[in-house]
Amino acid sequence: MNFLKSSVGRKVLMAITGQLMVLFVVVHLLGNSTIFIGLINSYAEHLHSLGPFVWLFRLVLLAMVLIHAFFGIQVTLENRAATPQKYAVNRTLKVSLASSSMIWTGLTLVLFIVYHLCHFTARLTSDVASYAGQVPGDVYKMVLGSFQHGLISFVYVAAMCALCLHLYHGIQSFFQTMGWNNDTSLPLISCIGRALAVIFLLGYSSIPVFILTGILS
Ligand code: HEM
Repeated sequence: MNFLKSSVGRKVLMAITGQLMVLFVVVHLLGNSTIFIGLINSYAEHLHSLGPFVWLFRLVLLAMVLIHAFFGIQVTLENRAATPQKYAVNRTLKVSLASSSMIWTGLTLVLFIVYHLCHFTARLTSDVASYAGQVPGDVYKMVLGSFQHGLISFVYVAAMCALCLHLYHGIQSFFQTMGWNNDTSLPLISCIGRALAVIFLLGYSSIPVFILTGILS
C-alpha cells in the first residue's frame, strides 16, 4: 500500500502497465497487417480458437487499461494541484506537445478503445451489425466494408494520431521512470521510442487509408 501511495510507486506501476500495452500494440499491429496478404481471417480464427485464454487475455488487458488510466488521472490532478500557476518565467516552454498532452491523448485512447470494442469486437454499430454473433466471421469483409465509410476511417486515423503522440513521450518516459537510462543512452532511447510511435501511426493508419482510397479492396 505504501508503494502505491508514493508517487514513485504509482509512476512505476503506470510505466509497467504502459509498456505491457505497448507490447499488445506491437502484436496487434502485426496481426492486423495480415490484412495486406489476405490472411486476417485465418489470424482471427486462430485467435478465437484459443478459447478461455482469449478471455484471460482480455481481463488482463482491461486491468492494465484501468490501472494505467486511474493512476494517470490521479497523478495529473495531484501535479496540477501542487504546481503554482504564476511563474516569472514560463516553465512550460521546454515541455513538448507530446508530454504536456499525455492526459488528453490518454483519455482519447480510452474513448477510442471503448468505441473500437463496440465496433469490431461486439459489432454493435450499424456498419458491422450484420457480422454480430459471427465468431470470428469474415473479419476481412467486415473491416473492408467499415473503412469504406470516410467518417469511420477519419476517427481511426485521428485516434492513431493520439496513440502516436502518447507513445512519442510514453516509451522514453518508461525507461526514465525505471532508471534504465543515462545521459549517453537517453538520446538513443528517445529516438527509438519516437520512431516506434511514428511506425504505429503509419502502420495502423495505412489500413483505413488503403481501404478508403481503394488500394485495398
Ligand atoms: C486501424 C487500426 C486498427 C484496426 C483495423 C483494428 C482491428 C481490430 C479487429 C478486426 C479486432 C477484432 C478481432 C476479432 O474479433 O477477431 C480488434 C480487436 C481489438 N483491438 Fe484493434 N484494431 C486497430 C487498432 C487498435 C489499437 C490502436 C488498439 C489499442 C490501443 C486496439 C485494441 C484492440 C483490442 C483491445 C481488441 C479486442 C481484442 C479481443 O478480442 O480481446 N486496436 N481490432
